[in-house]
Amino acid sequence: MIDPPVAQEAYNQLADDYAARIDSKAHNAFYDRPAVLSLLPDVTGKRVLDAGCGPGAYAEWLLDHGAQVVAVDANEKMLAHARERTGDRAEFHLANLNAPLDFLADASFDLVICPLVLDYIRDWTPLFREFHRLLRPGGVLVFSHGHPASEFFLYYADGNYHEVEQVSWEWTGFGTVVTMPSYRRPLAAVFNPLIDAGFVLDRVLEPRPIEAFREADREHYDQLMRQPGFLCIRAVKP
Ligand SMILES: C[S@@+](CC[C@H](N)C(=O)[O-])C[C@H]1O[C@@H](n2cnc3c(N)ncnc32)[C@H](O)[C@@H]1O
Repeated sequence: MIDPPVAQEAYNQLADDYAARIDSKAHNAFYDRPAVLSLLPDVTGKRVLDAGCGPGAYAEWLLDHGAQVVAVDANEKMLAHARERTGDRAEFHLANLNAPLDFLADASFDLVICPLVLDYIRDWTPLFREFHRLLRPGGVLVFSHGHPASEFFLYYADGNYHEVEQVSWEWTGFGTVVTMPSYRRPLAAVFNPLIDAGFVLDRVLEPRPIEAFREADREHYDQLMRQPGFLCIRAVKP
């Protein structure tokens, strides 16, 4: 059975505030985005899948840097924001990443990005197999997600590190307060699905926030300078 999107209700509540703050919220603008963008190859003229595009900040960046973009998200409100933001310059699909992406052809992408989305996917192997199918040989996958060390030792240490566990957290940083469900996992459940899907690991980044984060949120800046928050990975289809 295919899992429905676990955070659909939370993102229905959050979509407008998330879209309004995506350019200034420190964890996105000054931590995740510079880290993920630093892992991208030259995107000029490349066909890129933005998997879990949210309100379209990455899609817009990719378009502005000369890529052709296909963007997918399970949330209609997020897609509406992404369409508005990019002026329909990208191709958009409403789709659940827990299901096969049958509407996309084999070996039709040069790059797949999936920033801050895999936290909502319980089993990564089928999705990584889909990404592998969609990429041309030499194609690149870049993704980011909650770091397994901080997720367990800082937030959910009463669980079992070795298991993939559904957890939830009260998000307050986007204005609307929502209970956000996600999955935390051990490090092995990050790398083995990649290997099983046929990817070769190319780069691992445990980013530190950029300087602008300090101005925006001093407390979390100091924390992230000492402790991991997100894990960013680049892998290649040989
Ligand atoms: C934290 S936001 C990240 C958005 C964007 N990648 C970014 O970094 O700005 C997570 C996004 O993943 C989407 N999402 C969560 N589960 C999904 C699923 N099963 N299939 C497709 N999209 C999903 C949500 O709707 C939301 O837009």
